[in-house]
Amino acid sequence: MSDFGAPSWSEVVLDCHPTITSLEQDKAENEVINCFKAFLNKKDGEPEVFFMGNKSEDGHKDDIFLEKELHCNWLKRGLLALSPSFKGLDASRPWFVYWISHALEVLGDYDESLWASRAASFIGRCQHTTGGFAGGPGQLAHLAPTYAAVSALVIAGSETAYKVVDRELMYRFLMRMKCPEGGFRMHEEGETDIRGSYCAMAVASMLHMLTDELMEGLPDYIRRCQTWEGGLAGEAGLEAHGGYSYCGLAALCIIGKADALDLFAFLRWAAHKQMSHEGGFQGRANKLVDSCYAFWMGGIFPLLHEAFRQSGQDVALPSSHSWFAPSPLQTYVFLACQTQSGGLRDKPGKSADFYHSCYSLSGVSVSQHGVDGSLSVVGAASNLLERTDLYYNVLVEKAERKCAYFAGLPPLEVDGRVVGGGEGVGAAEGRRHLLEELNLPSYQ
Ligand code: FPP
Ligand code: ZN
Repeated sequence: MSDFGAPSWSEVVLDCHPTITSLEQDKAENEVINCFKAFLNKKDGEPEVFFMGNKSEDGHKDDIFLEKELHCNWLKRGLLALSPSFKGLDASRPWFVYWISHALEVLGDYDESLWASRAASFIGRCQHTTGGFAGGPGQLAHLAPTYAAVSALVIAGSETAYKVVDRELMYRFLMRMKCPEGGFRMHEEGETDIRGSYCAMAVASMLHMLTDELMEGLPDYIRRCQTWEGGLAGEAGLEAHGGYSYCGLAALCIIGKADALDLFAFLRWAAHKQMSHEGGFQGRANKLVDSCYAFWMGGIFPLLHEAFRQSGQDVALPSSHSWFAPSPLQTYVFLACQTQSGGLRDKPGKSADFYHSCYSLSGVSVSQHGVDGSLSVVGAASNLLERTDLYYNVLVEKAERKCAYFAGLPPLEVDGRVVGGGEGVGAAEGRRHLLEELNLPSYQ
């Protein structure tokens, strides 16, 4: 029996034959439910727990609050300087700029006048002389920090920031990473997996340099990663996983080729990953809830919704939801993942970190902004976040803003050859349709 009186996962699913996995699941459920109970039972004078809220007259907390100011202050300290304890993550420095910048922008507190030129100058130092971006100055170019670097420049949002990218060198780098079987390796002589496909497609599309030769063979490569469960694995033959599923689906959605997948099987798999007690998502079968999947899994549903719409298939698309429950997801992030010293964590018992702060807030944003433009906000009205673009995970407004610059450039020439290229047709159409739903102007 769990702490809150209902049958535990071990009892329901395993008929009283607990395993290490089932016991860990019971523990995670109890810890999350204890956060919910602490919120409901909190009275004045009781010890502090990990939740935030205002008090009603009877002393109970009466509303759920996302402590925006607390988190923003913690994030800004990280953007100014990181302590020496981060030295082991020295090859992920553009990621820190991206995670923190994006968390701040969804919270509505990314001050461009303060951060844009600093971000541009640091990211510029990470650009490799042969193209692409490295995890730090003087390191090897790699597709993952290249995605983070370009996204951070798009968030910075200025022409100075956009101009940091040497587009000709970037194109050569992307073509060098392209593999004959359609995917992309992460770095010279590095591994090929579905993250590479996403990073390459997102970068080429953000920079309006997506060409047929970059996309060649990619739909087939990603289709081979779809497993019997319906989700995508990092490589063909492995296990379906939320992070890799987002990467593969978003890569195909960017280029308008999501119909290479069995989208119904994908949806069925994804719909089973929202946890019934915790409200957040797990990333794969029999694993624990984790707030970063609020985005990796939560982002899959509206991507699928738009992919079905673009495919023109005769699918009865719901307009009021995209097949997952926004309120339990937000409740999980707000009550179980906020920490008192600022920042958000994976789950109770863990410490806050920038990665989970970025992706839990991105997932909350996805869950608050419905596919039809409607809003769904748990707790105080001030908990509403800015709307994030599903294809790149920068604000929709930033994804739109960079088009005015990149779409206006002359066709890209590489080694004397006009390669041209543009934004991915799926990402452009998805944003055009969204802006139309929201009655907002589009650059197109
Ligand atoms: C955890 O595996 C897996 C991750 C922390 C990474 C998931 C995210 C991605 C693959 C997306 C990467 C995106 C880009 C843009 C490069 P685990 O076994 O520790 O966790 P689990 O128990 O939840 O499966
Ligand atoms: Zn995580």
